[in-house]
Amino acid sequence: MELRFEGIHKSWPDGTRALNGIDLVVPAGQFCVLLGHSGAGKSTLLRCVNGLETPSQGQVRVNGHLVDRHSLPLLRRRIAMVHQHFNLVPRASGAANVMAGALPALPFWRMITGLYPPALKRKACELMAAVGLEESHLRRRAEQLSGGQQQRLGLARAFILDPAAILADEPVASLDPSLGREVMDLLRAQARERGATVLCSLHQIDLARGFADRIVALHRGKIIFDGPPEALRERDLAIIYAKANGTSAPDLTGLGTPAARRRIAP
Ligand SMILES: Nc1ncnc2c1ncn2[C@@H]1O[C@H](COP(=O)(O)OP(=O)(O)O)[C@@H](O)[C@H]1O
Ligand SMILES: [Mg+2]
Repeated sequence: MELRFEGIHKSWPDGTRALNGIDLVVPAGQFCVLLGHSGAGKSTLLRCVNGLETPSQGQVRVNGHLVDRHSLPLLRRRIAMVHQHFNLVPRASGAANVMAGALPALPFWRMITGLYPPALKRKACELMAAVGLEESHLRRRAEQLSGGQQQRLGLARAFILDPAAILADEPVASLDPSLGREVMDLLRAQARERGATVLCSLHQIDLARGFADRIVALHRGKIIFDGPPEALRERDLAIIYAKANGTSAPDLTGLGTPAARRRIAP
């Protein structure tokens, strides 16, 4: 599924400009990472795809179809989202949380009664196994699982309708680095298997370099870099991670060390 942003601007009522003329085409099947410091506009851009935000100017097209209130109900069955804070129902079971990902395609009474079709239950079990969760996690409440396990549930939920595109908003920002890597691996593997397009915001450069087919860096609502990970230079990083108020650029010596990464992460 192709995602196309055409002249997107977004201003908030208080005058903040979150997006400032974004033109971007993400071809079907690409794993595209949005990189940028906190407040650069990553979440706003992602949320314009599934109608959680509406651009002030410009439009988003999905496979050529305009995203608007008429097209959104159908699009939401084809586009899933993964959130930084997982957005699970804490007291519901793992399985119920995964099956909730199918609600855009189910009649309303299913949601009210929680009576899901057996085929959906089987799919939820398969997906939970695919993301490394065990049988016992099916019944356990989401709140009783670790952060890494909760995000695995978030991934299984996202993939339950075999989405053609995944919007992942800092999917591993709440996890420690090694768990983050595992979750990114699963996200990429599941997306590849289905040929799904991924638009994934990250603020970790090493993860972006490791997982992206393409990196698009945002700074104050504008695209300041667009290319393959190997084309990203320290000069670009200095701009990407320069403080939003335009003062100090980060110290880029020893960029690969965890301490350095913490310094330049928001
Ligand atoms: N609902 C909102 N109301 C007002 N300002 C917002 C809202 N959401 C985001 N912003 C502002 O828009 C800008 C971009 O935010 P965001 O897209 O969340 O950036 P990122 O995800 O890159 O951290 C920031 O200045 C942020 O404070
Ligand atoms: Mg964000």
